[in-house]
Amino acid sequence: MKRTTKSIRAAKGGQQIVCVTAYDAVTARLATQADVDLILVGDSLGNVVLGFDTTVPVTLDMMVHHTAAVARVRPEALLVADIPFALAHDDFSALLKSCARLMQEAGADAVKIEGGVALAPKIARLTAAGIPVMGHIGLQPQQVLQLGGYRKFGKNSEAQRILDDARALEDAGVFAIVGEGMARECASEIRAKISVPLIGIGSGDDCDGQILVMHDILGLTENPPSFAKPFANLTRAAVDALSAYRDSVRARGKK
Ligand code: KIV
Repeated sequence: MKRTTKSIRAAKGGQQIVCVTAYDAVTARLATQADVDLILVGDSLGNVVLGFDTTVPVTLDMMVHHTAAVARVRPEALLVADIPFALAHDDFSALLKSCARLMQEAGADAVKIEGGVALAPKIARLTAAGIPVMGHIGLQPQQVLQLGGYRKFGKNSEAQRILDDARALEDAGVFAIVGEGMARECASEIRAKISVPLIGIGSGDDCDGQILVMHDILGLTENPPSFAKPFANLTRAAVDALSAYRDSVRARGKK
């Protein structure tokens, strides 16, 4: 059954919402066969697949290209695409065009935007214009160069500021919010105080669902974050398969 923003939103308080990233038709097919609820074409594309150190170099053209590959699989999961670095801070009509490209040209069902209180007025205009938006608060990887690295968010007094971000996004009409790298107590409080699902990543278990980078789940990343438990070791399986292929080809040359 095709998931919609309505069904994802309605899942709050019910079964946990299962979300993964995918970046191409192969990973989209895997996610579809595993019957996940939401596929994110994250701008983690940059560091997971394209070999960049951060998400900052990812452009809208790259996002459109990869989202379109995922959309061709026609996933039953809700297909969400990231607005990449800096574009959420464009003027409104430029931002609206970026969202429209991801939806019309690439086939996304919705977009995700990193940011809180400061971006809420623009997000409210997007949702009023018919663009379904997923929020992203706590650790925002697009800020990594400004932050000087990754760290935990929402400890002590910072928790109130992140709750304000969540409330502003809820008021702006987002259908769900990703909460990344937040202290567990902060995530738990936000989950209880907002009416839309809080999807956690590295924010503890007390969320309405979880999202992980698919390559971390499959054991395909070299240095996965400590919270991302691998559920397989496909690096080992792939290297074994390639080595067996190598041996079989070389054996053919032997008389
Ligand atoms: O870019 C991404 O993949 C993300 C998630 C992991 C939440 O934003």
